[in-house]
Amino acid sequence: MCGIVGYTGPREAYPIVINGLKRLEYRGYDSTGIALLNGGLKVYKKKGRVADLEGFVLGKDLHSNIGIGHTRWATHGEPNDKNAHPHQSASGKLAMIHNGIIENYAQIKKELLNKGYSFKSDTDSEVLLNFIEEIRKNNDCSLEDAVRSALKRITGAYCILLIDEDDPETIIAARKGSPLVIGVGKGEHFLGSDATPMLEYTKEVVYVNDYELAVVKPDSLVLKNLGNEKITPFITKLDMELAAIEKGGYDHFMLKEIFEQPSTIHDCLRGRLDANAGTITMSGIQNNMEAFKEAKRIIILACGTSWHAGLVAEYVIEELCRIPVEVEYASEFRYRNPIINKGDIIIAISQSGETADTLVAIENAKEQGAVIFGIVNVVGSSIARISNGGAYTHAGPEIGVASTKAFTGQLAVIMMMALKIAREKNTISQERYNALLFELEAIPEKVEALLKSAEDIKKIGLKYQGATSSLFLGRGYNFPIALEGALKLKEISYIHAEGYPAAEMKHGPIALVDEDLPVVFVATKDSYHEKIVSNIQEIKARKGKVIAIITEGDEVIPGLADDVFYVPPADELIAPLLSCIPLQLLSYYVGIAKGVDVDKPRNLAKSVTVE
Ligand code: AGP
Repeated sequence: MCGIVGYTGPREAYPIVINGLKRLEYRGYDSTGIALLNGGLKVYKKKGRVADLEGFVLGKDLHSNIGIGHTRWATHGEPNDKNAHPHQSASGKLAMIHNGIIENYAQIKKELLNKGYSFKSDTDSEVLLNFIEEIRKNNDCSLEDAVRSALKRITGAYCILLIDEDDPETIIAARKGSPLVIGVGKGEHFLGSDATPMLEYTKEVVYVNDYELAVVKPDSLVLKNLGNEKITPFITKLDMELAAIEKGGYDHFMLKEIFEQPSTIHDCLRGRLDANAGTITMSGIQNNMEAFKEAKRIIILACGTSWHAGLVAEYVIEELCRIPVEVEYASEFRYRNPIINKGDIIIAISQSGETADTLVAIENAKEQGAVIFGIVNVVGSSIARISNGGAYTHAGPEIGVASTKAFTGQLAVIMMMALKIAREKNTISQERYNALLFELEAIPEKVEALLKSAEDIKKIGLKYQGATSSLFLGRGYNFPIALEGALKLKEISYIHAEGYPAAEMKHGPIALVDEDLPVVFVATKDSYHEKIVSNIQEIKARKGKVIAIITEGDEVIPGLADDVFYVPPADELIAPLLSCIPLQLLSYYVGIAKGVDVDKPRNLAKSVTVE
């Protein structure tokens, strides 16, 4: 949700923290702020983007070798200057930034108000900060001890960084539920919600676990649990290049990430799929093959776009592996008291690996004995670390808030894992297995080819940019893709859009159809093709505007639809990897035409780390 950055060392902290905030701005962009220590605590914060903060601090004395910075996605208290982080304690000596939600903050606030505290903001975070200050004052203890005691009393999720005017080299940091990465340098340390703020300075990082607290100084990093026991930091080497988090000449990260898909899908298949040899090598699956072969049921947990990938997985796994699959919204599954039986496998799908709803849902399921298999993009993320096994999507850092290349990475992993399990279970013929391996191997090239006609989808986007509502329809494997297309248009262009199984139209939504409603059909050649042609005719009969994503060589639908976009032919099970891409482009071009900041659409954040 929010982005957190920190630095302590010999260098100037301000540029490091500000650049780090720019890298993390996709996590929240309601307000930003920074705290520095030079001859006392200096806190600068502003509603809006990092650029607004830079303008605000121009001409100010920003010298400091220690700093913490925050970019906010508002939960408690509207986006404005006073609710921006860092917050300063009542004494003015402590500054703190927080990513997460303190659920029992109201009760603690009441206690502090009774003790004469007053609050400058409406945030839960300021309450935690003054609670820490109160404990330190009352117990005459160190800041570290005060933080530890306070954290034992709160409920909710947090990643916090604190600096103290009286201790100019030390950052106290702690996490539970919200991510924290510490970069290890020579005589300096970097802190961030992920590794992107420190990538240009160090490749050596420590992923901090839940209920851990860090005392960070330029030349020392001490990690402890809330029981005050020391933990040896486990240093991981980052396998990421700076170019991966730059725009690389594209106007937006979203467009760059859409056009990266031929190589990201290739990277996802590479070293795993060999169609000539007829093999799929996935150690995460192989290590859990017995569990998959014996599985009575697979439950898929995810949110947003990842949930749509889960829906594709339901169709693919049930067809190929003959294992019943249920796809659950993680947030509902978490509180529904679900039935989890021995032999159930939970597949958690997440780009960020930090989505709180999914994380908490799988923690619960794990406590009930389920095997957790993670399909994740961010290496070292929390979901990856708590899963029993998993597979990375290898899409590289995804900066655009709208998930694109991670989605196709998820689909590619799902198809490989289903094929591997089906082969082991003998629920697929050798011939079909081989054919699908070659189909999958051919996808990067086909994506390359369809991206060459991006201008065609741009024209369609410009034509319908004035729409206020739209419908996305598909059948079979294309139904989840219709849902994904609708989500992309909603989040990138703010046009209301709904996805539906095409046949479901007749049971209500068709009432919305008139000459102003664009209806997007995901209608690539498959075993439902005749049916979807009838559905298109039903819409045309009511003067609806039909945009159809169809397979090259389709001679029927061009005669019916107002606009068509062709994708190369592919087996219906593999085709979602192609049909989703023109929908990504459509939302991008409509968003651009409407002047939306497509990389940072309003009210959204890349990784939703609060429930
Ligand atoms: C998709 O474009 C959105 N950013 C959002 O729906 C996202 O898919 C959802 O928040 C899940 O995120 P995750 O894959 O990181 O868990």
